[in-house]
Amino acid sequence: MKVAVVGTGYVGLVTGTCFAETGNNVTCVDIDPKKVESLSKGKITIYEPGLEVIFERNRKENRLKFTTSLEEGIEGAEVIFLALPTPPGEDGSADLKYILGVAHDLGNTLKDYAVIVDKSTVPVGTAEKVTAAIAKNAKVDFDVVSNPEFLREGVAVDDFMKPDRVVVGTTSERAMEIMNRLYAPLVRQGNPVIFMDERSAEMTKYAANSFLAMKITFMNEIANLCERAGADVDMVRKGIGTDSRIGKRFLFPGIGYGGSCFPKDVQALGKTANEFDYDFKILNSVMKVNDKQKTKLIPVLKDHFGGDLKGKTIALWGLAFKPHTDDIREAPALYNIKSLRRAGAKVVVFDPEAMDNVRGVVGRKVKYAKSMYEALEGADALMIMTEWPEFRTPDFDRIGESLNNKLIFDGRNLYDLDLMEKRGYTYYSVGRKSIKA
Ligand SMILES: NC(=O)c1ccc[n+]([C@@H]2O[C@H](COP(=O)([O-])OP(=O)(O)OC[C@H]3O[C@@H](n4cnc5c(N)ncnc54)[C@H](O)[C@@H]3O)[C@@H](O)[C@H]2O)c1
Repeated sequence: MKVAVVGTGYVGLVTGTCFAETGNNVTCVDIDPKKVESLSKGKITIYEPGLEVIFERNRKENRLKFTTSLEEGIEGAEVIFLALPTPPGEDGSADLKYILGVAHDLGNTLKDYAVIVDKSTVPVGTAEKVTAAIAKNAKVDFDVVSNPEFLREGVAVDDFMKPDRVVVGTTSERAMEIMNRLYAPLVRQGNPVIFMDERSAEMTKYAANSFLAMKITFMNEIANLCERAGADVDMVRKGIGTDSRIGKRFLFPGIGYGGSCFPKDVQALGKTANEFDYDFKILNSVMKVNDKQKTKLIPVLKDHFGGDLKGKTIALWGLAFKPHTDDIREAPALYNIKSLRRAGAKVVVFDPEAMDNVRGVVGRKVKYAKSMYEALEGADALMIMTEWPEFRTPDFDRIGESLNNKLIFDGRNLYDLDLMEKRGYTYYSVGRKSIKA
């Protein structure tokens, strides 16, 4: 099948590469000429485990191409995915200017019937808006389908190739047949393709992300309460996670969620609710709690140093919003860097993959270490922001020798309390008792 993907970011590049991997001829279109040049030359533009191998294979087989021209990219395509940004607009609702702009251009460029697929996360009613924007100038038949993406950065290839489910919003039998054919290789184990109307598909994506954000936030509130009540949130997590009605995942407490999806999607669903005159109270609480949670260790750090961080050097491990990605959008680490600098501290950072992206945003306001241990040299404390695997079992002797004090503020609860006590550390984490050496 000939497939086009418009927008070649995290979602578009994974979508295009994975559909090429199942034998389709894919052309990815992006407005960014640097990105297209780099991808055309075989240089991948994001860090996503497992992507590079299949990207390279399919590019060499000529099944995966890149262009800046929409007209060239969609030529002969039966399916055209829109994997474009939907950032928050000024009022917090999803900004559809990228999607509707391309939809308008598609109206002028479509030469044959095609299925246009909203892969981006878009509010209820967008498929109708996209249909109207294309129909304004289109001279051929087309269908607009909502097919939200549930991949997780860091395991995106696996999620895409073996999805729990595929949600397809359309009532067109012609579009259903094409989508079934396209997804058949990915759902051979019986994971369902769930067909529904466009509005329900659009709502499904926001409901899923908001539910997960709420689950994380609920656990963070339990953690905050555990600290006050003298309970251990790790025990509570195990105690409730074994209940099959609750489940073990998304129960790990920490310094809040970030990323390009949860923050904007929770906000956008709240705006959708407002548009329909519904006060979705839980969403507002989730946003408020998460905002505060991101920097919850800063006052603890200040207290430890008698209220003053001026002249202190703080080492930060982890900058990406979660491990196995270089994505720093809405990453809690960025909020902590800001707070630390505002309090007069110097900041030294290390992340296995996200350093270049942080350099682009933060510039010279922090120091960039070449290794996790280099970051600690002469620092007064270590803060852990992201649970990269290499931070889980570090060399504690080396940490102790490098830091000025054996002092760790752990936003991801990586270490065992008893072991930290035995090793002589002062150790603060989330929802557990503090260890004072
Ligand atoms: N990143 C995720 O984990 C994830 C998961 C599920 C859903 N989503 C949703 O998918 C959508 C895309 O997210 P992303 O993270 O891939 O975004 P991104 O910012 O990484 O990529 C978007 C790409 O679109 C390109 N673009 C912008 N305008 C264009 C135009 N007119 N023509 C062609 N290309 C254009 C940009 O240059 C960029 O490369 C969003 O709606 C997001 O909410 C993201």
